[in-house]
Order: sequence, then structure tokens, then C-alpha cells
Amino acid sequence: MNSEDPRIAYFDSLAATWDGQEPSEATMTARLSERADLLALRSGQVLLEVGCGTGKTTAWLAARVAPGRVTAIDFAPEMITRARAKGVDADFVCRDVCRDDLGSGLYDVILCFHSFPHFRDQPAALRRFAEALKPDGRLIVMHIFSSAHLNHFHATLNGPVNVDRLPVGDQWRPLLAGAGLERTTHIDSQTLFFLDAVRARR
Ligand SMILES: C[S@@+](CC[C@H](N)C(=O)[O-])C[C@H]1O[C@@H](n2cnc3c(N)ncnc32)[C@H](O)[C@@H]1O
Repeated sequence: MNSEDPRIAYFDSLAATWDGQEPSEATMTARLSERADLLALRSGQVLLEVGCGTGKTTAWLAARVAPGRVTAIDFAPEMITRARAKGVDADFVCRDVCRDDLGSGLYDVILCFHSFPHFRDQPAALRRFAEALKPDGRLIVMHIFSSAHLNHFHATLNGPVNVDRLPVGDQWRPLLAGAGLERTTHIDSQTLFFLDAVRARR
């Protein structure tokens, strides 16, 4: 693991109480269900859930793609240990998306649910996602709040996540282009941030 990223210790320290914190698993999965049209997950898909934490959303995702498979990754070992202990039918792996190889051409969908702002090197993470997607795969970045709400919230926190930000508006275009990706959907409303990207057509 990358022992230099102080976020690992930060999130590890939150793991024991994470399931009791808002938004609850029930709230998050209800919001995922409400946006099933946008997510457009299908039976048989292979999905990578990035920054799964304690797996509050993993069972919901696994049920949507079954008999396809979810690989759920997080760089905080305590988070992964707790997620794995729930016995969800998914593969839980400790990985740092800013540093570790995620494989090539493996996934129909890569979902960053409530995790993207915390990637210390967002361009590097996006390059890995582009490489790990199947040719017609989709990258989804999703939050149940607006970017403005999230970025204000993070600025009020103590600890290393205080500087973490979700890119806004046209900041996404060069960021995605640098990884060979392009936006297909971009919603930034009070109750939903949803960005969908695919490999750029040449
Ligand atoms: C705000 S939490 C959200 C967890 C979960 N998605 C949820 O909604 O309950 C962000 C998660 O992203 C993980 N994370 C942050 N940077 C990461 C990285 N570079 N690689 C893998 N996971 C990372 C953290 O350890 C943390 O568990």
C-alpha cells in the first residue's frame, strides 16, 4: 500500500463507525434504485466498484449485475476487512487506484460512488480506469449531492480530506481527455452528481 497517503490512516480510523454514519446504506441504495435508469446496469456485467468503503452499496450492485461479478476495491485495509466480513457475493481487494495496476479491458462498468474527490492523483486514477474498461465500457462518478455541497463539506472537515475536491463543470473535459475518455452524461444538481464517460472515439 501507499503508506505516504495520509488518507489511508484517516479512512481506516473511520471504518469501525462507518456503517452508522449518514448517508446510511438504506439511503444510498434507495438513491441508487431511483437512478437505475441512469446507471443502466445489466445482468451479466462485470463491474469495478472503486472506494467501496465498508461495502454499503456492494450487495445492491452485485444483485444488479448477477450472474456478472463485482470487484470492490479500497485502499484502506480496515474498510476492506469490514466489507469482506459481510459475506456479500463479490470480490473485495485492497488497491490504490492512483498507484496500482487495475488490469486491462476487464470491466463493463467502473463506478466511483462517493469516492472520486479523495483520489490524490485524479489524472492517474482516470488513466487506470480507461485502461481497465472494456472497449465499450463506462466510467460512472456518482454522488447523492451536488459538487458544490460536497466541496464545501470537505473544506469544513479536519484531516487530509480537507483539500479533496470533486472537479466541477468544464474542469472535467481536459481531465477526461488526458485519459482518453469523454463525457456522455453530466448532471450536477442539488441531489445528484452523475458523470458518465466512455473511451473517446478517434
Ligand atoms: C467517502 S468514502 C466512501 C465509501 C463508500 N463508497 C460509501 O459510500 O460508503 C471514500 C472511500 O474511498 C477510498 N479511497 C480514497 N482514495 C482511494 C484510492 N486512491 N484508492 C482506493 N480507494 C480510495 C477511501 O478509503 C474510502 O473508503
